Amino acid sequence: MARCETQVGIVGAGPAGLMLSHLLRLRGISSIVLEVRSRAHCEERVRAGVLEHTSVEMLHEAGVGDRLDREGLRHEGIEIGVDGIRHRIPFMELTGKCVTVYGQQEVVRDLIARQLADGGDLRFECGDVSLHDIDGERPWIRAEKDGAVDEVRCDYIAGCDGFHGISRSSIPEGALRVYERIYPFAWLGILAEAAPSRDELLYMRHERGFALYSMRSPRITRLYLQCRPNEDIDQWSDDRIWGELHARLTCSDGWRPTEGRILQKGVTSMRSLVVEPLQHGRLFLAGDAAHIVPPTGAKGLNLAFADVHHLAEALHAFYQRNEGGLLKAYSQTCLRRIWSAQRFSWWMTSLLHRFEDEPAFDHKRQLAELAYVTSSRAAATCLAENYVGLPLGGAQT
Ligand code: FAD
Ligand code: DHB
Repeated sequence: MARCETQVGIVGAGPAGLMLSHLLRLRGISSIVLEVRSRAHCEERVRAGVLEHTSVEMLHEAGVGDRLDREGLRHEGIEIGVDGIRHRIPFMELTGKCVTVYGQQEVVRDLIARQLADGGDLRFECGDVSLHDIDGERPWIRAEKDGAVDEVRCDYIAGCDGFHGISRSSIPEGALRVYERIYPFAWLGILAEAAPSRDELLYMRHERGFALYSMRSPRITRLYLQCRPNEDIDQWSDDRIWGELHARLTCSDGWRPTEGRILQKGVTSMRSLVVEPLQHGRLFLAGDAAHIVPPTGAKGLNLAFADVHHLAEALHAFYQRNEGGLLKAYSQTCLRRIWSAQRFSWWMTSLLHRFEDEPAFDHKRQLAELAYVTSSRAAATCLAENYVGLPLGGAQT
């Protein structure tokens, strides 16, 4: 048994855990990050792609924005397609802000590299991680590593272990309230070796189902198709995927996505979930461990960053000035932004997906809403200001 001590024990080396650990180091607070998967797995997992301007600022301020500056793709708008006709939502013109397309795995790579260069304690491939005494003065984390047992004693634990992690379920039943909505569809996502043939993302509403055209770099395209919730990926040959993408994304002016070798494919389920509060005793939840949004609004990674920004500030106030007020307010502070993002993600999802067996009224209402968003400057501004990201304090500030 190897016992060690740190101020904050962090479970999970996703964007939330890695960013938190880095922000804490910048504030002189020690942490140990425990991760179940290998470094390669964390660095190769293809997920989010859109960074709000506040996330970009956070990466810059934290000194990990150099590669993002060089390789990130600045997007000043998106396109909304309705049955083959594209309509641009000009973010810069409407809000003065833009978003940056930069893969989540690139953010993770940058944070891991920085962490290791700074001598951070980052432990991959931990087995059987469990949390203990979270209600007490001195909580601890147990993990198996290289055949031995590690016992990490800390002042606080940050549960940054995503939706399937153990942190949320370590909180006694009854202490959390769960708000959840499950959608009757999923996304089939691919990464293709094809140069993007559009400059901006295209969110397409189509009778056959939603499709999204995105990208990662000047050589790589990222595309998504609405599919059934438990879709069997093996039923989707490359030809079938491209056929469906062409059917949904081909526009009235003849534009269609350029095909390329499919490098990766996977199915992502869609749900909205929030647990309240985000804290129990000395355990603080952050990121997907506390909330999930359907990916349509591109908010998950950005929300995770916002949570850990608040948590780092609160821990700093505690260690620097012995002020516990921000820690106490952590849950309330984060929940304002979380619910704004939940509302927006639900709205974007409802706006763009095909709901099977929906009443004819709802179908017409969806078309009317799309017509409004794509023709009214006020409605487009509402979409734009949520997409580029609300201030870190939430909609009220
Ligand atoms: P995670 O990234 O899930 O990290 C949690 C970490 O904890 C993982 O490394 C995991 O291995 C580890 N872990 C799990 N269990 C344990 C354990 N017991 N012990 C130790 N470690 C553990 N968000 C956006 O903002 N923009 C987008 O464009 C976007 N698009 C998306 C597209 C797709 C297809 C998907 C799936 C998601 C998308 N998201 C998007 C959401 C975004 O990827 C997540 O919100 C983000 O990964 C959350 O980060 P996190 O650190 O909270 O959790
Ligand atoms: C991407 C993912 C999203 O969920 C989204 O809304 C936009 C882009 C992407 O992976 O590129």
